[in-house]
Amino acid sequence: MDSDPAGSPDPTAPGPLTNPTLEVIARRRSTRAYAPSPITAEEKQAIVHAALRAPTAGGMVLYTILEIADQATKDRLAVTCDDQPFIAKAPLVLVFLADWQKWTDLFDHCGAHEMTGVEPRRAVGPGDLLLACADALIAAHSAVIAAESLGIGSCYIGDVLENGEIHAELLDLPPHTMPVAMVCFGRPAVAQEPIEHYGRGLVHTDRYRRMTLADRDAAAAELAALFAPHGLPPDVENYPQAVYRRKFTSAFMREMNRSAAWWLTRWSAEPETSDEPAERVSDSQVE
Ligand SMILES: Cc1cc2nc3c(=O)[nH]c(=O)nc-3n(C[C@H](O)[C@H](O)[C@H](O)COP(=O)(O)O)c2cc1C
Repeated sequence: MDSDPAGSPDPTAPGPLTNPTLEVIARRRSTRAYAPSPITAEEKQAIVHAALRAPTAGGMVLYTILEIADQATKDRLAVTCDDQPFIAKAPLVLVFLADWQKWTDLFDHCGAHEMTGVEPRRAVGPGDLLLACADALIAAHSAVIAAESLGIGSCYIGDVLENGEIHAELLDLPPHTMPVAMVCFGRPAVAQEPIEHYGRGLVHTDRYRRMTLADRDAAAAELAALFAPHGLPPDVENYPQAVYRRKFTSAFMREMNRSAAWWLTRWSAEPETSDEPAERVSDSQVE
């Protein structure tokens, strides 16, 4: 860690401490091939409960978990999420939605905008969305770690952000919801070792420290060493070139960016009243 005082331990190394929680975190790796055994109702309950125990902004639980139980919907998502067939074979698939819809519906239902001295009904903004995304992701990872502790592997599917128009219709998503992550769960078909993550420059102290030219040379050399066993395509010279071509300028990232803009426009649309205006709850009931 070049940003740390000389002699201090590397904060990205595993360190001497261990306990069962740290062991579960250390052994997790993405699982994309699943044993045929189902996930039991008790296991699913433990996974969902762990999600709900995650910290949540303002105690508002700004997410909804959508279980994809229907095989035809899994099959469709396996195609629309950048053609990843393993999605269709996962015994448990959960989509974590950023969700302000449930609150805006409750605001309408409970006359929140009609109190004296409050702001009128407003659009749900990008700050609201980012907070809900944080909530949804933290909950998702709590579920992932709980699953790992039960011997159930998992894999995030970021591509659920793609094809916004298709996914909104397929999953019946109202405007103030957005799929932040999909997670496939299942027991690993084969035992697998955790893969190393690149941690150089991971922790900065007090202020962001941008890489110097020497840091960039060192980073490129370390990445080459780390990924050498997997091999680079013959026509690239280094790992950042491979990432630039395979990820950053890929067709799926182009689609992700197009679709994300669509989700954002939809999210920030003028507020619409709830589809189903129910009977007003009286003030005493709200308390
Ligand atoms: C936000 C996010 C999106 C991801 N999307 C996918 C995906 O669509 N397909 C996939 O196979 N893996 C996906 N992954 C898994 C990563 O590829 C994986 O975490 C990374 O390669 C590190 O490997 P590890 O999880 O085994 O440590 C995603 C992970 C994250 C955090």
